[in-house]
Parts: sequence; structure tokens; C-alpha cells
Amino acid sequence: MTEAPRDNDFTAAARAIKQARKVIAVTGAGASVESGIPDFRSPGGIWDRYPPEEFATIDAFLMNPDKVWRMWYDLGALIDGVAPNRGHLALADLAREGMLAAIITQNIDNLHQSAGCDNVIEYHGNAARMLCMTCRRYAPLDIRERRALAPRCACGGVMKPDVVLFGEDIPIAALHESDRHARTCDVLIIVGTSATVYPAAELPYLAKAGGAFIIECNVVPTDFTTSITDVFLQGPAGVTLPRLVTAILGIP
Ligand code: APR
Repeated sequence: MTEAPRDNDFTAAARAIKQARKVIAVTGAGASVESGIPDFRSPGGIWDRYPPEEFATIDAFLMNPDKVWRMWYDLGALIDGVAPNRGHLALADLAREGMLAAIITQNIDNLHQSAGCDNVIEYHGNAARMLCMTCRRYAPLDIRERRALAPRCACGGVMKPDVVLFGEDIPIAALHESDRHARTCDVLIIVGTSATVYPAAELPYLAKAGGAFIIECNVVPTDFTTSITDVFLQGPAGVTLPRLVTAILGIP
């Protein structure tokens, strides 16, 4: 277990951001835990309750959309009323100060957008929308409105939350834009991801290969920490990110 980050870790990270031409962030489910949404792979996480092979693959969805929608409606009860936490707001502050060019998020909870960020790349889609598997029509989705069965389109097709399930491709625009940002940034801030799901987990490696300084915020070390991370800010993102922004704004 590494010790808590020291002041000079925050100072080193703050200096790198202050001197950078381009800073981006890659966020995962850990960024939303302090908003009340469990992550996927920590003990007690979502995949402990809903095995992904049964609920989160496109094949499982096509075989039994009603069953997969039951999980989404259960998650909807979790998401009901959640708000951006201090970590989301800290990233929004950085963006407002012109020090965060893009947030590439794996999260589908819309919390970066709700925090006021308009530079969000939805790498795994967004659960605020659903689309018809037949005619590809989009519609707003409020997963708090529980139904007994999968919602249907006017054309008769089954609707699917507009999120990337295992076995589906990343939206091509998000894939290319994220790749471009990773290859051209000077600093990449990784927030709350287990570094286990590709191609999202490739982005920090791409940035590192391009010479970027890597800052990682997580409560535990990951594969990134032991291979490419330059400064590891261990702790909840709702604590470390505001402290990082304070350190940045404290640099004359
Ligand atoms: N602050 C920072 N990090 C946290 C916090 C917190 N408060 N709480 C948990 N974490 C960390 C965990 O230690 C873990 O490393 O966040 C990470 C969450 O990892 P996962 O649950 O695997 O979530 P994520 O990395 O986003 O998963 C990627 O996998 O299941 C798919 O599509 C899903 O987008 C998701 C993708």
C-alpha cells in the first residue's frame, strides 16, 4: 500500500499542468463513486451484483433485452438524484480556467456534463439516451421510469440504452477524437479507472508514448501506477482533485 500523497506530489502535478500546452483527462467509474454510484470492479461493485456476461454484452442484450433492461432500471434507482461531486466540479474548474482541453469519460452517468463541462467525449455512450435496434432512432431515456419490459420504438424495434456493451464498437467519432487527444497532450490526468477495459485503457499508454506527463488519481494503485504514472495522487477523487486545483491556482 503506498502512503498518502505528499504536498510535493500535488506541487509536481500542479506545475506540470500549469506549464502544459494541452491537458486532458480520462475518467472511469471511480470518479462518480462519491456521487453515490458504485463502480464496477471494487468489492461490492456493480459487476458483483450483475455478472457482465449476463447483463452487459450485446449478445446477452439481443437474447433477452427485458432481463438486461431490469438491470438498467435497478441502476436507475441508484442514479436517481445523484449530483456531480467535488471531483467533477474540480475538473470543471480546470476546464473553465482553460487548463483542460477534453475529458474522455468511460462513464455514462452524465455527471461531467452536469458539472458544466462541455468538452466531454462519451467513450462508452450516455445512459440519458436510448436508440432503436431496428431503425436507429434515438430517444431520451430516463432510467428512473421503471417499465416491466424493454421499451419499444414506434417501428416495433426494441430500444437499447445508448451505452457501449461488451462486444460493441466504441462510437467512431469518440474513438478517433480520443486517440488524437491522447497523442497530442502534454499532461493526462487519469481519474478512477482500473485500467482493465480496452481500448479506453490504451489512451494513457498512447499519451505516455507521446511524451505526456501522467497524473493518476485513484484509491488504489493500478497497472498504470506501476508502469507509466509520473505522480500518483492516492485517495478519493473528490479529495485529490480539489486539492490539485488549489495547488494549481496557488502557482503565480
Ligand atoms: N476516487 C478515485 N478512484 C476510485 C474511487 C474514488 N472515490 N472509488 C473507486 N475508485 C477506483 C477503483 O480503485 C478502480 O480502480 O476507480 C476504479 C474503478 O474501476 P472499475 O470499476 O473497473 O471502473 P472503470 O475502470 O471505469 O471500468 C471501465 O468497464 O465495465 C466496463 O463499461 C464499463 O466503463 C466501464 C469500463
